[in-house]
Amino acid sequence: MQQVKAVVALAKGAPVEVVTINVPDPGPGEAVVKVQACGVCHTDLHYREGGINDDFPFLLGHEAAGVVEAVGPDVTSVAPGDFVVLNWRAVCGNCRACDRGEPWYCFATHNATQKMTLEDGTELSPALGIGAFAEKTLVAAGQCTKVDPSARAAAVGLLGCGVMAGLGAAINTGNVGRGSTVAVIGCGGVGMAAIAGSALAGAARIIAVDVDDRKLELARSMGATHTVNSKEVDAVEAIRSLTPPPDGTGHEGGADVVIDAVGRPETWKQAFYARDLAGTVVLVGVPTPDMKVPDIPLIDVFGRGGSLKSSWYGDCLPSRDFPMLVDLYQQGRLDLDAFVSEEIGLGDVEAAFDTMHAGGVLRSVVVL
Ligand SMILES: NC(=O)c1ccc[n+]([C@@H]2O[C@H](COP(=O)([O-])OP(=O)(O)OC[C@H]3O[C@@H](n4cnc5c(N)ncnc54)[C@H](O)[C@@H]3O)[C@@H](O)[C@H]2O)c1
Ligand SMILES: [Zn+2]
Ligand SMILES: [Zn+2]
Repeated sequence: MQQVKAVVALAKGAPVEVVTINVPDPGPGEAVVKVQACGVCHTDLHYREGGINDDFPFLLGHEAAGVVEAVGPDVTSVAPGDFVVLNWRAVCGNCRACDRGEPWYCFATHNATQKMTLEDGTELSPALGIGAFAEKTLVAAGQCTKVDPSARAAAVGLLGCGVMAGLGAAINTGNVGRGSTVAVIGCGGVGMAAIAGSALAGAARIIAVDVDDRKLELARSMGATHTVNSKEVDAVEAIRSLTPPPDGTGHEGGADVVIDAVGRPETWKQAFYARDLAGTVVLVGVPTPDMKVPDIPLIDVFGRGGSLKSSWYGDCLPSRDFPMLVDLYQQGRLDLDAFVSEEIGLGDVEAAFDTMHAGGVLRSVVVL
């Protein structure tokens, strides 16, 4: 066991604190990772506000890269010294989803078996089974994905959650491909990655929607071809006018794929109506438990056809996707540096939540 500094949410809504925690030595199937960088994701704030569950205290942070320090006796997939991006989808390999060849839906993903604790022995709940706003963290070995060690930790660590969720919402869940029209509602780290992913996949039109003009300006540099400020104009009409139907068909038009990267009833409703007939809605923003499906006539669900999907972690498979995306980054084809708005210390996470609310950043990244 060793003691390290970490950022913990002790009680619902209370500011996070840097405290000392106990990290057990790795047991069977586990690894201890020395964290080098960890991004601040909106989901960390959801945890702190009690929006995920009530299992306080939480050890926050889950978009991280670092170096494996020690592994349990039976671990062969990684070794001390390996540079890894941490993932929250260590697939089991033998549940029904894994068996049918869809491991991104794995029902039994692995996390560390032992618990990290506060100094007094209180067990911590690590955010998404990771907990990486910490000098070191204990995870399942399968949560460590080896990538090119020459890559910048602050940038590639973001693949561990939000950036992968956004890229995958477009490429995997939405099946965006060459010539697709796409609209992305909400251009934070997740939405901006959906824009970058759509550009990477060859989408013909990429419409960025946000309520903040600074985000829209940045969206253009990420590959958006059009921008819509939905505080000023009606998002559904604006998207439809940019994606008109072929002449004479008489329907309203809309994008092939609309991605809701906010996760609120009103943005999901916009996504529902802003897609073309038989188009796809992808919900990647995470709603809070009190939110309800918006009031939509069932005949509209039937009549518009298409698919209404949710995207968990961009339907990614870390072992397949992380090394490939890191290679694209290293080749200059995926600008992960653009997602790193600022580098901060462990003590700055609470302030980073305020900065997130103020809207000035894509990602504040804790660098250790
Ligand atoms: N599904 C997943 O696997 C997954 C993974 C990571 C994060 N998420 C979720 O994705 C969401 C976005 O995360 P983020 O880190 O990008 O958050 P963020 O706070 O950085 O970005 C949110 C963006 O949405 C914009 N916005 C807010 N209200 C809006 C509205 N009504 N219309 C249009 N734009 C609006 C904001 O201006 C901001 O640019 C969160 O709910 C987060 O929990 C999901
Ligand atoms: Zn499985
Ligand atoms: Zn996240």
